[in-house]
Amino acid sequence: MASSQLLVFFLLVACCSLHCSRAAATTNNPPPAPAPPFSFNFDFSNTYTYRLEDLSFAGNAAVHGTIVDLTCNVPQCTTGRMSYGRPVPLWDRATSEVASFATEFAFKIVTPNDKARGNGMAFFLAGYPSRVPPNPSGRNFGLIDGDGDDAGSGPDRFIAVEFDTYDDSFERPKPIGDHIGIDVSSVANSINRTSLNFSRSGAMKALIKFDNTTRMLVASVEFTEAAAGSSRSAAVQVSAKLGDPRALLPPEGAVGVSAVGFSAANGATFQLNQILSWSFNSTLSAPHPPFKGHHKKKGMAAMSPIIGALIFVLLLLWVILSWWKWRSSSRDIATRTGGVRQFKYTELAAATNHFSSENRLIGAGAFGEVYKGFFKELGREVAVKKISPESRSEAGSKDLFAEVKTISRAKHKNLVELVGWCMNRRWSIVDFMCWCSHNAQKNSIVFLVYEFVDNGNLRVHLHEKETVLPWTMRYKIVKDICSALVYLHHERHPFVLHRNIKPNNVLLDKEFNAKLADFGLSRTTTDSAGKASYLDPECRRTGKFKRSSDVYSLGLLLLEITCKKDENSYAKVWNRYMENSLMQLADDRLQGLFDERQMERVIVLGLWCCQLNINVRPTVQQAMDFLENDGPLPELAKQEASSSKIGNQE
Ligand SMILES: *[C@@H]1O[C@H](CO)[C@@H](O)[C@H](O)[C@H]1NC(C)=O
Ligand SMILES: *[C@@H]1O[C@H](CO)[C@@H](O)[C@H](O)[C@H]1NC(C)=O
Ligand SMILES: *[C@@H]1O[C@H](CO)[C@@H](O)[C@H](O)[C@H]1NC(C)=O
Ligand SMILES: *[C@@H]1O[C@H](CO)[C@@H](O)[C@H](O)[C@H]1NC(C)=O
Repeated sequence: MASSQLLVFFLLVACCSLHCSRAAATTNNPPPAPAPPFSFNFDFSNTYTYRLEDLSFAGNAAVHGTIVDLTCNVPQCTTGRMSYGRPVPLWDRATSEVASFATEFAFKIVTPNDKARGNGMAFFLAGYPSRVPPNPSGRNFGLIDGDGDDAGSGPDRFIAVEFDTYDDSFERPKPIGDHIGIDVSSVANSINRTSLNFSRSGAMKALIKFDNTTRMLVASVEFTEAAAGSSRSAAVQVSAKLGDPRALLPPEGAVGVSAVGFSAANGATFQLNQILSWSFNSTLSAPHPPFKGHHKKKGMAAMSPIIGALIFVLLLLWVILSWWKWRSSSRDIATRTGGVRQFKYTELAAATNHFSSENRLIGAGAFGEVYKGFFKELGREVAVKKISPESRSEAGSKDLFAEVKTISRAKHKNLVELVGWCMNRRWSIVDFMCWCSHNAQKNSIVFLVYEFVDNGNLRVHLHEKETVLPWTMRYKIVKDICSALVYLHHERHPFVLHRNIKPNNVLLDKEFNAKLADFGLSRTTTDSAGKASYLDPECRRTGKFKRSSDVYSLGLLLLEITCKKDENSYAKVWNRYMENSLMQLADDRLQGLFDERQMERVIVLGLWCCQLNINVRPTVQQAMDFLENDGPLPELAKQEASSSKIGNQE
């Protein structure tokens, strides 16, 4: 039973792990569909083309209606920055190839007048996330901390295209008025620049492209030139060969991304720097959504076979531990039962013809059925007593193994020998995995295998058989019973209580030797009325079973063996005893064929054992001595008086 459950469990575990590894494989195997190149296209006059959370605003930058104002048209409006809200892929981490990218935007520079203007704006690529320096200043478009014009090689490095509207004296080789320029981490030393007059109203369009093979950055601005009443469109361009953008940008670039956006600043005077639309394309695909999660997922996919294997190993370990625990609990039981032979359930089933109720059931006791069995290999007949969990209380089953041990050690020619035992443990997989061996024991059927005593029990011979049990045999049976009880009560240490002395439990073999059966099992079940009639009233009152309780049952048994069927009750026998006419009681089926002296001694002993006062009952040793030695009869009258006193006290 347990082993089949185990098998099922192993199969389950195997299936699980197979499934896990297959799942891991499927997450690994098909290469992810190539993501489309990264791109966005915002038209700020149409709110459906962008979401505010796609963009990040800092300083005075904000969306005003259909336009993004990077700065505002009030004095001392210093800096504003708008950047794309997520990292933009610039190079492939795996191949370390740099992307080509292009950006296009429409912008306006609105100056209050030509005399007082702000400083201009710049398109930039910088480390992600975009970081506004703590003290930005107008002359460097807010790209560099403080009043400096050089971000050096620090974390604020950038690549920018500036749209400069201020004649800064620090510009080299010399100031040239309004211009666009290509900057790498410095606003004073543009790599290339070209003049462009921004003092014209209307939108301009800028296009900035980077080519990953030529490493050329080309920036061009298209505008409409008003000339003598008419207008024509014109364009300026500036280009520069950049080095490796990875070397030009901060090391966050190690993850292949950067921040892109616009930065603008005013000094003491101000102007509006406005963005109307913005698109950006990179030849690389988007690192999101979301950038970190993507990595994690990849990591998880790589981890899942390892996790699967780990879980499998842990489960296996658990199963092995459970198995070991189960084994040791079995061994534990074996030692607790004193090493009596432990039968397999299958052996018992084979010996009893599968517990056939037709030809093998030979009785039903307080605990359960008794089957007759035959062990071929031992060449002997046995009686198999089945003790179902329902018939044992919790306390009963807890002590069961101790009882089996006790019973197995008690060996006497007048005791039915315990040949072995068997426990059909009802393991559930839960019990197994939770190491609840106690649970399993509680729910188990226990079998006790006894020697088979083939001549039936004393009750049958006294009351059912046609042939009358002659006195010599009866007297021998009495002595056999006493001898067995002397052994249990006085020769075993600690002593063993029989607890269930009655004619049913006195078995007879072919030579009419009596053997006490069913001893030592504690009665925790509420018992049948039949058995209760042999129970010591004192024990029933106190709930404590003592040796004197066995003596009481023995007394009733002796009266039953000797007296007429209807006159063997304690009260009737007592009356005859008082009348001094004990011989009237003798079982008339004996037809007077008995030794009167022996008869008298057995009846008197029966009365003596049945005294209500437990203190005046003899021990079985005294009873045995009384039978064997021709000593004086006890004076029962006086003792009865004291015992009835006890009766009155109740
Ligand atoms: C480099 O640019 C070309 C076209 O300009 C593009 O096809 C290629 O994918 C780019 N390389 C990377 C790594 O993006
Ligand atoms: C980006 O790509 C889209 C679609 O391919 C195109 O319409 C747009 O003009 C491109 N923008 C730039 C700046 O190259
Ligand atoms: C720039 O353009 C404005 C208007 O077209 C003109 O008034 C101004 O003189 C120009 N400045 C330069 C330096 O060309
Ligand atoms: C500056 O840009 C112009 C226009 O693209 C170009 O012709 C020129 O060669 C560039 N100068 C340098 C030094 O790259």
